[in-house]
Amino acid sequence: MNHRWIDLPRVIDDRGTLVFAEAERQIPFAVKRAYWLVDAPPAATRGGHAHVALEQCLLALKGSLTLDLSDGDERVSLRLESCSRMVYVGPGLWRELRDFTPDAACLVFASAYYDEADYIRDWETFLLRRKAHG
Ligand code: TYD
Repeated sequence: MNHRWIDLPRVIDDRGTLVFAEAERQIPFAVKRAYWLVDAPPAATRGGHAHVALEQCLLALKGSLTLDLSDGDERVSLRLESCSRMVYVGPGLWRELRDFTPDAACLVFASAYYDEADYIRDWETFLLRRKAHG
């Protein structure tokens, strides 16, 4: 499945910790957009869709949350709980975000501007497309 953990550089001194991510370096694409999720109630589920072409990197800036990924066959559950470790998610994977801690802040870097046409929001459609396109 086209995903991987990426550990980010940290600069730590007695004033605190600085973490950075550069486009086309630690982030393996040219970033066009960033967005963040905050104030998710603990019972909330977000996502519930796949993207045709969009690439994303997600991390928990604060708190933690679970990211479920599926390619239609396999499924993995990843706990995002570090501000210096992000998950790269390639195109064509179904994703859900759940079990947010009350303080969770999830930062997402994306390879394209928001485009509703890039979303696959129906699970059956997702499975059919996987069969058709591999
Ligand atoms: P959506 O991607 O469905 O959220 P999630 O997957 O977290 O549940 O987006 C929710 C709404 O926000 C939807 O109406 C589209 C809008 N939106 C933007 O306008 N710009 C963005 O960059 C994103 C991610 C969403």
